[in-house]
Amino acid sequence: MRIGVLTGGGDCPGLNAVIRAVVRKGETRSGHQLLGFRHGWRGVLEGETTELSVATTRGLLHRGGTILGTSRTNPFGSDGGSARVKETLGATAVDALVAIGGEDTLGAAARLGDEGVKVVGVPKTIDNDLSATDVTFGFHTAVQIATDAIDRLHTTAESHDRVIVCEVMGRHAGWIALYSGLAGGADVILIPERPFDIDEVCEQLGRRHERGAGFSIVVVAEGAKPAEGTLATQDAGTDEFGHVRLGGIGSVIAPEIEERTGFETRVTILGHVLRGGSPTAYDRVLATRFGLGAVDAIDDGAFGTMVALHGTEIVRVPLAEAVSELKTVSPELYAQAGVFFG
Ligand code: F6P
Repeated sequence: MRIGVLTGGGDCPGLNAVIRAVVRKGETRSGHQLLGFRHGWRGVLEGETTELSVATTRGLLHRGGTILGTSRTNPFGSDGGSARVKETLGATAVDALVAIGGEDTLGAAARLGDEGVKVVGVPKTIDNDLSATDVTFGFHTAVQIATDAIDRLHTTAESHDRVIVCEVMGRHAGWIALYSGLAGGADVILIPERPFDIDEVCEQLGRRHERGAGFSIVVVAEGAKPAEGTLATQDAGTDEFGHVRLGGIGSVIAPEIEERTGFETRVTILGHVLRGGSPTAYDRVLATRFGLGAVDAIDDGAFGTMVALHGTEIVRVPLAEAVSELKTVSPELYAQAGVFFG
């Protein structure tokens, strides 16, 4: 078979490890030919390809980013997109696709699958918000980077008796904020799932300082929102999938905290730092197992599925199930983190 591989959406540590595993197993064990599509669905729409072989994918395991490039192009974003996808697959003699991406990339893959395109999905996102898999690769690395940063912010916050607000990615789900906040000992964690009241945040910080603490760390997910009517925020532009471009809630709440509490406050926005660089060992292994699992799925003719981690096993789930709803932080888990607030 000739298998096309693409990486779509925001990049994520571990993408190259998946590509390497798909190529290694596909070429050497299953006897497939591999072809890369550049920049996600854009490369499929425009027929932009690159050679993929064991020889061209050496030395990739630890490398961040994606050698294929990525984009947020939506193949259903304009009329005739799916016809163009099928034309390209025909012209390049590609029999099946491995689509590595998050909700948007895999949502498009699911629709193309319904239209007869042979596609297998691999779940990727640092946000960890894809349903049907316990965890996505990239999440562990993002949490580790954020935790390292929070550790560093602790020492400077303590030296200056400051509140430091640390903003992390997490558009619809607060997994990175929750995990890095728990691991880094944050005093308040704000996530998109639970609209916050700035007065309550300030009370929590005030209580902590009354008990003798001279400094505090607030971890906020970029998608965290104030409870209605409590604080004004600004909307930014949207991408091809209609997502608002985020980043900046930390800068909104830091001056509010300073004004309401009198504690000197600073903000650090980690943003794309969380998506850059080398994957952790955990993510390298998970990405590798997902890549191997994707080739197994193709060999078994299990199209329209996504590889997923359930417990310690790599399993297959219907693509439609994976993109049906986002996996968000439960109130119970947030309540556990809340034991350490204030
Ligand atoms: O891929 C998910 C994500 O990292 C979100 O957490 C974030 O909101 C978004 O990507 C940022 O996207 P971009 O790189 O397009 O600004």
